[in-house]
Amino acid sequence: MRALICRDWGDIDTLEMADIAVPEPGPGQVLLDIVASSANFADSIMVAGNYQTKPDFPFSPGLEGAGRVAKLGPGVEHLQVGDAVMAKLAHGGFAEHAVAEAAETWPLFDGMDFGIGAAFAVAYLSAHVAIRWQGRLEAGETLLVLGAAGGSGLAAVEIGKAMGARVIGAASSAEKLRAVLEHGADEAVNYVVRNLKDQVLALTDGQGADVCFDPVGGPLFDSALSSLGWGGRFVHFGFVAGVPQVPANRLLVKHRSALGSSLRYFQARRPDQLTQSMAELADYYAQGTLKPIISHRFPLEQGVEALRLLTERRAIGKVVVDVAPE
Ligand SMILES: NC(=O)c1ccc[n+]([C@@H]2O[C@H](COP(=O)([O-])OP(=O)(O)OC[C@H]3O[C@@H](n4cnc5c(N)ncnc54)[C@H](OP(=O)(O)O)[C@@H]3O)[C@@H](O)[C@H]2O)c1
Repeated sequence: MRALICRDWGDIDTLEMADIAVPEPGPGQVLLDIVASSANFADSIMVAGNYQTKPDFPFSPGLEGAGRVAKLGPGVEHLQVGDAVMAKLAHGGFAEHAVAEAAETWPLFDGMDFGIGAAFAVAYLSAHVAIRWQGRLEAGETLLVLGAAGGSGLAAVEIGKAMGARVIGAASSAEKLRAVLEHGADEAVNYVVRNLKDQVLALTDGQGADVCFDPVGGPLFDSALSSLGWGGRFVHFGFVAGVPQVPANRLLVKHRSALGSSLRYFQARRPDQLTQSMAELADYYAQGTLKPIISHRFPLEQGVEALRLLTERRAIGKVVVDVAPE
């Protein structure tokens, strides 16, 4: 099968197209004919050898994909060959076929095409888990979303609105702020030109936000933590700009919490809550509340360009890789 593959840890430019063997689904797994995949920032982290998991070489990156079920592994009962599905993958989405856990493979929602399906599972499920189960966001509260025009950021904005919160989206350019507002944020602030905390406190009459969803980390963390009010919940989601250190003294006085959230590990520990997350997302999608943006599409051969848009901070929403369009 055609695949974009990684033969050694390094830059995304070291990825190359190759013909490799079609994988076999094991117990509880399915083989998918991939129609489309999408780029996640974590793909570049995995290729660099800095991700939580390190696949054997050669492997294909790609943490999600949409397509049709081609083969069932032993013990899989709730899917049929030919089903149109989206799946969260350990890796391997940038290839014509990929193996997925059946428990992490879901039928496409009504009206959802393969491109949207390829862009949905990781961003929306992980953002929902972070906001709903870790952040415990309540209707009427204020959600601050950093990197709000990114793949997971825009998903967080839409989920926050769907849950009845007031959403402040924060990003780095006027174009990104426009996208954040178009996707339903109540306010959008630029954290490059003005201090984040000052802007959030000004928008909340000095009260601060209740929940912060942070896929960015790095130098922004200090100001973001200070943007949280009494009882605020800071959800560490990703570290594209570096891993921050949490100063415990700044949690104590305002009864703030710092929490971690990882879709990969949540699935293993809380499968029932993950099922509930997908059901709630399906309802929001059916109501028309969730409208994933695909800002760019590339054929599989140009998958590196899809990843580069993310590493160079130029993507808005999701970037789809068309593997074998139907
Ligand atoms: N915990 C989980 O379950 C989970 C699930 C999925 C992803 N993640 C993590 O979340 C993070 C974001 O993933 P994503 O796929 O949403 O990425 P993305 O689409 O590229 O969005 C990341 C956003 O971060 C901002 N950013 C700030 N500094 C940056 C820098 N130095 N380089 C690149 N972007 C920078 C950018 O917005 P501005 O330019 O506006 O600042 C960008 O829009 C990654 O670390 C990923 O591993 C975690």
